Amino acid sequence: MRYLITGGCGFIGSHLTETLLKSGNQVTILDNLTTGRIGNIQHVESHPDLKLLVGSITDEELVHEAIRDCDAVYHFASAVGVRLIMDQPVESINTIVTGTQIVLKFANRYRKPILLTSTSEVYGKSQSVPFDEDGDRLEGPTTKHRWAYACAKALDEFIAMAYWKTTSLPVIVVRLFNTVGPRQTGQYGMVIPNFVQQAIQDGPLRVHGDGKQTRCFCHVADIVSGLEQLMHCKAAYGQVVNLGSTEEISMHALAQRIVERVGSKSTIELVPYQQVFGDGFEDMLRRVPKITKVNQLIGWKPQRNLANIIDDVAAQFRS
Ligand SMILES: NC(=O)c1ccc[n+]([C@@H]2O[C@H](COP(=O)([O-])OP(=O)(O)OC[C@H]3O[C@@H](n4cnc5c(N)ncnc54)[C@H](O)[C@@H]3O)[C@@H](O)[C@H]2O)c1
Repeated sequence: MRYLITGGCGFIGSHLTETLLKSGNQVTILDNLTTGRIGNIQHVESHPDLKLLVGSITDEELVHEAIRDCDAVYHFASAVGVRLIMDQPVESINTIVTGTQIVLKFANRYRKPILLTSTSEVYGKSQSVPFDEDGDRLEGPTTKHRWAYACAKALDEFIAMAYWKTTSLPVIVVRLFNTVGPRQTGQYGMVIPNFVQQAIQDGPLRVHGDGKQTRCFCHVADIVSGLEQLMHCKAAYGQVVNLGSTEEISMHALAQRIVERVGSKSTIELVPYQQVFGDGFEDMLRRVPKITKVNQLIGWKPQRNLANIIDDVAAQFRS
């Protein structure tokens, strides 16, 4: 099969590209190289079954041709990371909403199955943990820019579901929870690569807020395996599906675990959110997925734990 992967030079997209090529598929990547890097695909760059299109998902002509010529679409291209959303709000909203609208329009025109990656951010400040796909969402005011990411991604979900409802476009919406592993950069505020890099250098680990906020981290290899299976699961068409680990840890405890595991002399510092993100920032206290649905659909459960993640990320930075 020929897969189109928008955002294929990014962290998750590059891992999926590698996996699909390994199993004998053809892959076209469409990426504008904003947060993605050619370095992420350098080991497969000259693979005969890989085609790279450098451009934006907001370029209708490019998206049109790429979708016409493929069999199925993984749509990953997006403005990603809280820092980016806070720094470039207009561009980020445009990429997420306009870009996705264009991708869905052509997937629908050519009737190509499409898997769209959404985010756990759409649950917002909901405290109904673990988050159920059908649970209510609770988002903050429009004056706080961080909510733009959640709202824009939620709008993508609405558009995707509207196509499913009105034209039966085979579309799957996957709400990814924190995904981590080699190649993820700390540049845009991702916590584990930042902490591990600091720990290796014995530098201070800067925990935002009081450090009591919790997250669940899943190894990218587990996520890729889930994404591959979901694309071929007809029962997942027209569904919104959580994908992530349920191993919950506070940010302060995470910093401690990383310092111990890396064998570091780093100290842990608490830094107020305002100092890091300026005004207009709110955080969620807990973010834990309910993964019953994905388990029922494809029998998926994470195979790797937090220790595996820290070891793999540390190995990458050390090398
Ligand atoms: N990594 C996570 O923890 C996580 C969590 C929830 C959701 N997601 C979602 O998963 C997807 C992939 O995220 P990632 O972690 O690999 O991030 P990433 O930043 O590494 O990948 C995004 C890719 O999209 C590309 N891109 C951005 N704007 C584009 C545009 N206009 N046209 C073409 N390409 C464009 C970037 O260059 C990059 O290669 C995103 O949709 C993101 O919202 C990721």
